[in-house]
Amino acid sequence: MDQIRIVGGEALNGAIPISGAKNAALPLMIASLLTDETLQLHNVPRLADVALLLRILGNHGVDHGVAGKRPGQTPTTGQSIRLRARDIIDTTAPYELVSKMRASFWVIAPLLARMGEARVSLPGGCAIGTRPVDLLLMALERLGADIEIDGGYAVARAPKGLRGGDIVFPKVTVGGTHTALMAAVLARGTTVIENAAREPEVVDLADCLNAMGARISGAGSARIVVDGVSRLGGAEHTVLPDRIETGTYAMAVAMTGGDVLLSGARPDLLQAALDTLEQAGAEITATNEGIRVVRNGHGISAVDVTTEPFPGFPTDLQAQFMALMTKARGTSRIRETIFENRFMHVQELARLGARIRLDGDLAYVEGVRRLTGAPVMATDLRASVSLVIAALAADGETTVNRVYHLDRGFEALEHKLGQCGARIERISQS
Ligand code: EPZ
Repeated sequence: MDQIRIVGGEALNGAIPISGAKNAALPLMIASLLTDETLQLHNVPRLADVALLLRILGNHGVDHGVAGKRPGQTPTTGQSIRLRARDIIDTTAPYELVSKMRASFWVIAPLLARMGEARVSLPGGCAIGTRPVDLLLMALERLGADIEIDGGYAVARAPKGLRGGDIVFPKVTVGGTHTALMAAVLARGTTVIENAAREPEVVDLADCLNAMGARISGAGSARIVVDGVSRLGGAEHTVLPDRIETGTYAMAVAMTGGDVLLSGARPDLLQAALDTLEQAGAEITATNEGIRVVRNGHGISAVDVTTEPFPGFPTDLQAQFMALMTKARGTSRIRETIFENRFMHVQELARLGARIRLDGDLAYVEGVRRLTGAPVMATDLRASVSLVIAALAADGETTVNRVYHLDRGFEALEHKLGQCGARIERISQS
């Protein structure tokens, strides 16, 4: 298995192009199951999760084509993918695939909406919490589906098609909202989704579905209304920039010091995180090309954060922010409210010299003057990248193991950081 080797202590200077958002690309790709026409997606990141989802969709009958290289492209230029599900040949999503990527469970909605049935493996456990799918199934039931659990599979049936209904989510769920949208677009009548997730990735999915002929209004607010249509057609859609990748590199620059333009980034997608970084001492400027992050001279201040659904501070940036706080002046309190077990990075950061105490959903991070490199590993992609951030500011050498986590969610990480002066390399073990 590959490792990433980092020698800390270099400031970051230059430009980092921000890729298309993984968490938008995945549901957009799944939406291709809703039509027999071609869905063309641009700015799709080159990630292991995208490749795996193409395989999963292929099982259901989706053909795909990836556009070849074009003049002027770099390793970080997003790819264009054409997806076409002319015929759905299999409505079962097997355990071997769904257990590798939880988001693939979401195929249940378009398969059910288009074919009247779906048999999708329950995803099982996860490194960051229990992550049930009860609310996704509840949403489908509200639209008239019969659901039973059989042999580890959720079996959903609606032989006469889905019908619109009222879905009230008791807690905000991104996957629940994606699922409800993809089911409701082909249901007969009107669906109202209350307490919907307001995440930008939900808006991106709704925009794409509307381009395919759906009638969705209110995406981005807590109340979404969907008027069902009888069929959807093809469309062309560009994936929005990755706010989590943006925030990750912004935190890396705050950690090392320096001056970096995050090109293509959109500040409105992560305002809460940018505000927090400013409080911590980084200078953030929105420019025509993206977001410029500067930290020169003065150190980092401790800031408290609580993770929240959008527009609050995202859980997917909690580990990275904790890495930054390990070198802050003072003690920062970081509260995780979305997932109950998302502190697996704490013991690994401690290997680099961080002082962190856990108390339930709260982490007390006492800033230290110095981190020192060490071999580390992590259990999910955001935790892994938090170790990279800490390593960039640690004395000496850090090796990050289990790099496949990083490859799931960060396109060309070592290339992007290396171009800005980081001493980072991938060591292939094959
Ligand atoms: C999405 O996961 C993201 N994944 C996650 O990013 C992200 O952390 C999360 O949203 C929250 O923003 C993708 O977009 C592919 P949820 P999702 O349903 O949709 C509970 C990353 O690192 N819940 O919004 O699965 C759940 O357990 C990943 O890229 C139920 O109780 O998250 C959690 O506590 C990690 N029952 C909360 O809701 C349900 O049926 C929010 O989860 C569904 C969810």
